[in-house]
Amino acid sequence: MKKFAQVKTSIPGPKSQALLERRKRVVPQGISNNCAAFVHKAEGALVEDIDGNTFIDFAGAIGTINVGHSHPKVVQALKRQVEDFVHTGFNVMMYESYITLAEKLTELAPGKFPKQAAFFNSGAEAVENAVKIARKYTKRQGIVSFTRGFHGRTLMTMTMTSKVKPYKYEFGPFAPEVYKAPYPYEYRKPNGMNEEQYHEYIIQQFEQFLLAEVAPETIAAVVMEPVQGEGGFIIPSREFVQRVYTICKEHGILFIADEIQTGFGRTGRYFAIDHFGVEPDLITISKSMAAGVPISGVIGREEIMNVSLPGEIGGTYAGSPLGCQAALAVLDIIEEEQLNVRAERIGRIVMNKFQQWSDRFEQVDGIRGLGAMCAFEMVKDKTSKQPDKELVSRIVREATNRGLLLLSAGIFGNVIRLLMPLTISDEQLEEGLFILEESLEAVLSPQYI
Ligand SMILES: Cc1ncc(COP(=O)(O)O)c(C=O)c1O
Repeated sequence: MKKFAQVKTSIPGPKSQALLERRKRVVPQGISNNCAAFVHKAEGALVEDIDGNTFIDFAGAIGTINVGHSHPKVVQALKRQVEDFVHTGFNVMMYESYITLAEKLTELAPGKFPKQAAFFNSGAEAVENAVKIARKYTKRQGIVSFTRGFHGRTLMTMTMTSKVKPYKYEFGPFAPEVYKAPYPYEYRKPNGMNEEQYHEYIIQQFEQFLLAEVAPETIAAVVMEPVQGEGGFIIPSREFVQRVYTICKEHGILFIADEIQTGFGRTGRYFAIDHFGVEPDLITISKSMAAGVPISGVIGREEIMNVSLPGEIGGTYAGSPLGCQAALAVLDIIEEEQLNVRAERIGRIVMNKFQQWSDRFEQVDGIRGLGAMCAFEMVKDKTSKQPDKELVSRIVREATNRGLLLLSAGIFGNVIRLLMPLTISDEQLEEGLFILEESLEAVLSPQYI
């Protein structure tokens, strides 16, 4: 018996259907949507659509809602801010919340050295600015990102991104001086290699990349997701991250951690890079930083951050008062509700379930997780590991129809990733996992296949 998810109409229901028709006329299809329904209200881990259907949210606005939808503290902070003033532009008249946020984040970010923080609007904009700052500081141009990485949809970040369709196809020419390095993918390591050999192999591949593709002394920065998000929640080995970091240090290359999807408690730490024992020169943040209010930022070593001259970075809405206030509320919530601990617990419950499904279904494989950043792959079978994107599309559809919002990921589109709010209750989490299990059973039952 379901307590939270309530689906009363077909999805989309009649009201959403009517809006979809309007949308099709005036909104381009290039702006995609995972679920065909329109939201009415969202609270905690639940989202209600305009037809009265309630969904358990395992998508969390693609990793934006770690503290839950409309957390009362966030709502209060926003209301207070709106009553005082909405926007002056930090570059016109400054406000205290920007400074307080910078103080808190520079304190939380790894590394005991002096740091500064600058705020922007979107994830892509944070990455763009990190690249600008790195180039200015090093006086070099090369930027290294990784295979299967995702950094955004602007020209530079699209260039740094890996998945050709839909992110890059026919959008060239791309920005120059961007190089794509190999990144570990343990689940798909070459046959016959054990874990240790594979770690060594991929490090060698990275070293060879510096011989074959780009000279280290021309590289301004290496930009790495500590766990690849859109790429399919791929967790690199600690050795790999540390080796890349050491190579960066040896050659005066800046190490930038893109924490836009991994940050703010998702992996059981404020920053996922904390798991790997390295201290990045710069960190990009956004998404769960402000519970859905658009804001992003770059945190980094003071001497690097401070290199750009007045007016060289920033923007009209960059680090808006609403974003700063929401972000300050988020930091309080993470601490007060111990969401890092909660992420670990969610991760254990989810991984336990994934293991059961993997034992039961030949098509569920490649289970992995760091804190509450958990995923599995759908494959034709465990021997061939052939990705099955179609199966994932069907599971997402089945789950939606049963009241669960779910996301896919991965270069092959065959990964199911979970990004539920960390404030989800145990009961809601269990119900969501139950719906996912039902959806798996439905698409894997003989009559469905
Ligand atoms: C790791 C990472 N970097 C950058 C971005 C781009 O963020 P935005 O969509 O806000 O531009 C994303 C978005 O998914 C991301 O996951």
